[in-house]
Amino acid sequence: MLGMVVGSFTSVSLDPPLIAFFPDRSSTTWPRIAKVGRFCVNVLSDSQERVCRALSARGDDKFGAIAHQPSFSGQPRIDGVVAWIDCDIYAVHDAGDHWCVFGQVTALDIESPSNPLLFFKGSYGQFAPLAISLEDVA
Ligand SMILES: Cc1cc2nc3c(=O)[nH]c(=O)nc-3n(C[C@H](O)[C@H](O)[C@H](O)COP(=O)(O)O)c2cc1C
Repeated sequence: MLGMVVGSFTSVSLDPPLIAFFPDRSSTTWPRIAKVGRFCVNVLSDSQERVCRALSARGDDKFGAIAHQPSFSGQPRIDGVVAWIDCDIYAVHDAGDHWCVFGQVTALDIESPSNPLLFFKGSYGQFAPLAISLEDVA
């Protein structure tokens, strides 16, 4: 079971539905995911720091202590995440000492109403809204 943590995740396109992230060329996990040809993005919640630490360590049994189910495409979908996004690899471009990977979204859903886990200046943290949301203003 393969997994890695990426902070470099972004949505890209609605038509077709594309997301992107940037794996380091030194990653040992990315080439193995590339061979599979698909992956499931798991947006970790602010109670999943332990999961983040386990997935960002090097090793072969990253999912040993992480509760998960197979996604529609058979990739690990972690219990309790904010959301999950099943993707096929759409394109991979040279990006200096990283790769730029585009994924085409095949399925997605919101899993739990929690807030995402954040990482800033070497520390984990939580999202704290500064103002009422745009939805409340409209
Ligand atoms: C908060 C956080 C963000 C990270 N973001 C990225 C990233 O965007 N790209 C990347 O290649 N590695 C990133 N990493 C490192 C990988 O998750 C992980 O350490 C590395 O892939 C493990 O080595 P492996 O790929 O050889 O298994 C990040 C790690 C952490 C903790």
